Amino acid sequence: MTQLMTIERFILQQQARFPDATGTLTNLLYDIALAAKLIASEIRRFGLGDIVGAAGTENVHGERQQKLDVFADEVIVRMNDHTGRLAAMASEEHEEIIEVAPRYGSGKYVLLYDPLDGSSNIDVNVSVGTIFSVHRRITSGPVGTLQDLLQPGRSLAVAGYVIYGSSTMLVYSTGTGVHGFTLDLSLGEFLLSHPNMRFPEKPLYYSANHGHEKHWTPGVRRYVKELQGLHGTGKPPLSHRYTGSLVADFHRNLLRGGVFVYPGEVGGGDKPNGKLRLTYEGQAVAFIAEQAGGRASDGIGDLLDIQPHTLHQRTPCFVGNKELVDQAEEFVAQYDHEWRGQYLPYRQREAQLGTR
Ligand code: AHG
Ligand code: MN
Ligand code: MN
Repeated sequence: MTQLMTIERFILQQQARFPDATGTLTNLLYDIALAAKLIASEIRRFGLGDIVGAAGTENVHGERQQKLDVFADEVIVRMNDHTGRLAAMASEEHEEIIEVAPRYGSGKYVLLYDPLDGSSNIDVNVSVGTIFSVHRRITSGPVGTLQDLLQPGRSLAVAGYVIYGSSTMLVYSTGTGVHGFTLDLSLGEFLLSHPNMRFPEKPLYYSANHGHEKHWTPGVRRYVKELQGLHGTGKPPLSHRYTGSLVADFHRNLLRGGVFVYPGEVGGGDKPNGKLRLTYEGQAVAFIAEQAGGRASDGIGDLLDIQPHTLHQRTPCFVGNKELVDQAEEFVAQYDHEWRGQYLPYRQREAQLGTR
């Protein structure tokens, strides 16, 4: 019989490779895996729609009324606020930093997360996800601070996501490759199903919201035409796939090869810095991409090198196979000069405005 590798066993084996490890990160990952199981179970029940309410189970019905992203957020907060492992958290669902009471001990780590990513897909039975990342604490006061949460992605200790799709998968990296686990519902365990995930060399897909094309810069438009094989270079075109759920699009591209594109908008578009949040969306996928042989960029430079200034700041994002992301930067550098005033200095502008 082949040996089943549960996520617990795998993480412990990984930990054993680092003699100084205290097990805190290991336990933190267990906590996140448990939160993922709870969220997955609620998402599955959500599919029952009004049938659950009609059955008269008020409690369940009441829970179902709650927006799932708020539910997911509460699960993650409750799972992590008393363990002593964390000093603070930041979530898409909280405007401000979530402080962790010092009575539980001042943890060495801080957690950033998007509890439910792609939540507009929930009602229509399309995959959604949870994105998480963990930084080591850099301040030493009684509680964690913004400074701990606002660090470049390069210094992440862990990044990962959970995809609630035809099966539930947890994919994470601690900086030693990317590993994927599939939830076995009969066992209630995440089992190692995708060790050492790497972007395939030959990409198949690109993912972008073409509905926003009129607001793309000339460089991004030309880049996407290049991906479509329209520049006569003889390269085969990539197929287009887009779900509106970063986790699902990123996951597909990781397995099949490709690039996810959400650029900054110009010419009257209302997303000068794109849509994705730098801290709890962009950095996490950038970290995983790099660990899987790919990379991420904001169109100018590596996303992992950007110093965030606010919790909810947005960033343009090109993430996937390395050569496709390199190419995006080349097109932006070559064709977007005329937008320099409006688009290229968005990093600085974002810092000045401190906008959400
Ligand atoms: P969230 O549901 O957490 O707000 O994130 C949605 C994000 C991301 O998952 C997705 O890639 C993007 O929004 C889709 O945006 P468009 O609908 O503008 O394409
Ligand atoms: Mn999201
Ligand atoms: Mn969300």
